[in-house]
Amino acid sequence: MINIKSDVERLKNLSTIPVVMKRILETVGNERKGHYDLGRIIEHDQSLAEKVVAMANSPYFGHAGLINNIEQAILLLGFDLVKSLAISMSVFKIFSKTEIQRVKKLWAHSYRVAIASSLLCDKIPVTTAGVCFLSGLLHDIGRVVFLSLYPDIYKPIMFESDLLEKESTLFGIGHPEVSGMFLENTLIPDEIIISVRFHHHIKECTKHKGVATTVYLSEGIVSRFENNNVADGRWDNEMEETLYSSGLSLEDIAFVEDVLNEEGDSIMKFFEL
Ligand SMILES: [Fe+2]
Ligand SMILES: [Fe+2]
Repeated sequence: MINIKSDVERLKNLSTIPVVMKRILETVGNERKGHYDLGRIIEHDQSLAEKVVAMANSPYFGHAGLINNIEQAILLLGFDLVKSLAISMSVFKIFSKTEIQRVKKLWAHSYRVAIASSLLCDKIPVTTAGVCFLSGLLHDIGRVVFLSLYPDIYKPIMFESDLLEKESTLFGIGHPEVSGMFLENTLIPDEIIISVRFHHHIKECTKHKGVATTVYLSEGIVSRFENNNVADGRWDNEMEETLYSSGLSLEDIAFVEDVLNEEGDSIMKFFEL
């Protein structure tokens, strides 16, 4: 009998998780010490540090081209955002070479949702664009967790259009809840954890609804770009209703689509796809 909760806990402690990831997850408590530790932990892993700095310089965080190292990233973006960024980056290192293509596809999907969420954030002024970006980046981390814990069961369904139904039949729980479970107790801001938890069920979300809405709508927008079944959201009537009730218009969607088109190549390059 599968016990997701204890398996997720076990995953956080698995030796296959890079040491750096474990240490980032453990960086809690004392703010001042936390800042210092986080910087040192990330810098310990050169390739991780480079990815974090590259991502921190993306225009969606508002400091494009100004960040040369982790310390500057923490200073300009803040402890919580850099921590969330480092967790996102390092979680994709969990997987063996054989899974790397699947994980990269998911990662590119998450990056597109992150870009779309941060752009929508400008129009739905709920929080900073950085928080929306990271919510988008982490929204499907539950899919990566499923793949890591139960590869034989999850691989055949992970790019199916009725993914959520299949997850709940096979595991009794969907990836949004697993994303939330994985991120609990990590000092990642509450609004990020809640938005990933409700990114497919926006009507059930009662707190931080604005951030969750940006991710929910972004899933739908991005699904129009991905014809390889990676997107797990579909643009439908319910999304269109949410779009209008959030004060957005189809022009806003067109704007997001334009940016995603422009960024297409750089996303592929970033993930070496
Ligand atoms: Fe999802
Ligand atoms: Fe998604």
